[in-house]
Amino acid sequence: MTSRRAPALFNWAGSKARVAKALSGLELPTFGTYHEPFLGSGAAFLGLASAGLISKSLLSDVNPRLVNVFRATQTEPHEVVAGLRMHALLDSDVHFSAVLGRLNSRLADDTVDFQVAADTIYLLSQSFHSTWYETRDGQVSMSRRRGVEAFRARHQDVVRSAALLEGAIVQRCDFRHALDRVGAGDLVFLDPPYLYGDDQVDQQSYNVDRFGVSEVRVLSAEMRRLVDLGAHVIFCWGERADALVPDGGGWIEIGRDFVWLSESLTPRINAAGGRHYRPAAQQAVEGTAE
Ligand SMILES: C[S@@+](CC[C@H](N)C(=O)[O-])C[C@H]1O[C@@H](n2cnc3c(N)ncnc32)[C@H](O)[C@@H]1O
Repeated sequence: MTSRRAPALFNWAGSKARVAKALSGLELPTFGTYHEPFLGSGAAFLGLASAGLISKSLLSDVNPRLVNVFRATQTEPHEVVAGLRMHALLDSDVHFSAVLGRLNSRLADDTVDFQVAADTIYLLSQSFHSTWYETRDGQVSMSRRRGVEAFRARHQDVVRSAALLEGAIVQRCDFRHALDRVGAGDLVFLDPPYLYGDDQVDQQSYNVDRFGVSEVRVLSAEMRRLVDLGAHVIFCWGERADALVPDGGGWIEIGRDFVWLSESLTPRINAAGGRHYRPAAQQAVEGTAE
């Protein structure tokens, strides 16, 4: 295991980098394939993979532009870096608007496109809260952060991510389809959109395929099926939600996230110091003070 910082491909509101770091310290049992069907920025995959914990993986998300970033990085990282370097030279309010216009003028499909990948990384880095908003007709809506630092191409992160993605299967699909491929002994990391507000839907996307209460019900039933099948399951949510998870297992709090671990992983909860996870460094400091 290495203590080197995990690479990040793009900024993402609600990234699970911290959760991945905590999980990497818990000595997870050996597992088969790693599945992450709500990939987002891939922070969990990149964190666990850079700790040397993943050998085979199936990564997916319903957002084609995010999936494109991973597939482009996987196949031609240097092309992606070249696009990022160009953004570093041109970065300004006007350039941001032009790049957003270009992103929205292209059909988001499954063709791997390095330019679109670099554009997506650039826009998320410089946008307000790095939050992805989509309108009902699939247009991405973002504004440039006020007083944002000049854009820098993190080429080392792209190159290191490419190395970690080697051999990974990355695809655009709905979580229901992705979970059909889980087998006994596999590890499934689930970080769906959290539901807020009166309408209880994913607030970040306003497209027709919004993630809402009915999707959460399906996911909850899927978690029961996966546990019965003998898979290890990790589920992130904005609060402790016992009604959503199967019996057994338990919750830990990592930063602002509540993370549920299936029963096969519960010895790790004790290793984490019980319900409230404290990083090892903090535990050492507390130990010294006693
Ligand atoms: C909370 S984010 C995941 C963040 C990720 N764990 C990270 O660290 O960056 C949720 C992701 O679920 C995806 N998503 C929403 N509905 C989905 C669905 N029905 N099937 C698959 N992915 C979906 C969104 O596109 C988004 O990328």
